[in-house]
Amino acid sequence: MLYPLFKKFAFKVDAEVAHELTIKSMGLLGPWVKPKASDSRFKLKAMGLSFQSPIGLAAGLDKNAEAINFLTYLPFSFVEVGTVTPLPQAGNPKPRLWRYPKEESLRNCMGFNNLGMEQVYKNILNSNHRNKILGVNLGKNKLTTNENAPKDYACLYEKFAPIADYLVINVSSPNTPGLRDLLKDEGLRELFVAVDEKRKNCPKPLLVKVSPDMNVEELTSVVTLVKEFKLSGIIATNTTIMADRGIGGISGKLLSAKAQYTRNVLLDQLKETRDIELIGVGGFSSYEEILDFWKSGGRLVQLYSAFVFQGPNLLFAIEKQLAADMKKVGAESFDDFQSSLN
Ligand SMILES: Cc1cc2nc3c(=O)[nH]c(=O)nc-3n(C[C@H](O)[C@H](O)[C@H](O)COP(=O)(O)O)c2cc1C
Repeated sequence: MLYPLFKKFAFKVDAEVAHELTIKSMGLLGPWVKPKASDSRFKLKAMGLSFQSPIGLAAGLDKNAEAINFLTYLPFSFVEVGTVTPLPQAGNPKPRLWRYPKEESLRNCMGFNNLGMEQVYKNILNSNHRNKILGVNLGKNKLTTNENAPKDYACLYEKFAPIADYLVINVSSPNTPGLRDLLKDEGLRELFVAVDEKRKNCPKPLLVKVSPDMNVEELTSVVTLVKEFKLSGIIATNTTIMADRGIGGISGKLLSAKAQYTRNVLLDQLKETRDIELIGVGGFSSYEEILDFWKSGGRLVQLYSAFVFQGPNLLFAIEKQLAADMKKVGAESFDDFQSSLN
């Protein structure tokens, strides 16, 4: 209810200043808020984990795990923190975050600004994620060469696996020079080999996040490796490059078509492999779009830009419409509901 008022103020100041203020306020409010339980019929199992609903928060909003208490108070069943790198880094020079309010889209070239793994680890330990699922999104430092990148990801996995519910290898951000080269066959294989060594000691669901700028051949080679290394899933997608808009990655409605295309290619390739989850993210701004994803066979969804533009009301609206649709078809569980969509 307070969000429209908050937005009126926040959208008057620089986008990154507003973002920082929001995270700080969430951090302060966190300990005082009590979570509201989602409708128990929304529950689903994925990657061996029990989710209270299919709706989660995408990486990049709470990069340093400073607002977990507040974010898990909202109807997000899972929250992904990060991207975290081994060493702290400042990211790219400012300004590096822009809004397109009419198009409900953002452009950012943050460049993995974060406090580094030691501080983020402490922040997670000092937070309470209230039985909700916590993901940690991992990235290499800018100064780490691609040749040495496997070491960064392996050490991040080792650090966070004991305290995370799932982990994500992020090699799809457009804002770290050369990072997306690691999505190519050999680079990704070396990363998976290095992380696999650490997975043996502490097995946790592991996913890879892909870019909406990959072609079908590139996506196919990721799927092949994901199967070979028995990853738990793929997150699709990160932001897209639209050179005519300027540097950085575009998210929100402007990304929607590309992200949806990428997800459909992946869903088609994964349809025989039920144990590999596809987490959908990128351009979702309404219940109807999420429903389309569920109709195509996807289940878990993450939001970012639409949450910035519409606030928590979007989450309440999604839950309300899902409950109404489930009632209409007499579904007692999310799986029942999804079966009724086909
Ligand atoms: C300001 C900003 C920062 C982001 N930072 C990260 C990040 O650190 N790691 C990551 O994997 N994705 C990051 N993302 C991408 C989002 O997680 C998401 O994949 C993307 O925004 C598409 O979803 P949306 O259209 O719902 O915003 C960032 C997005 C934005 C707008």
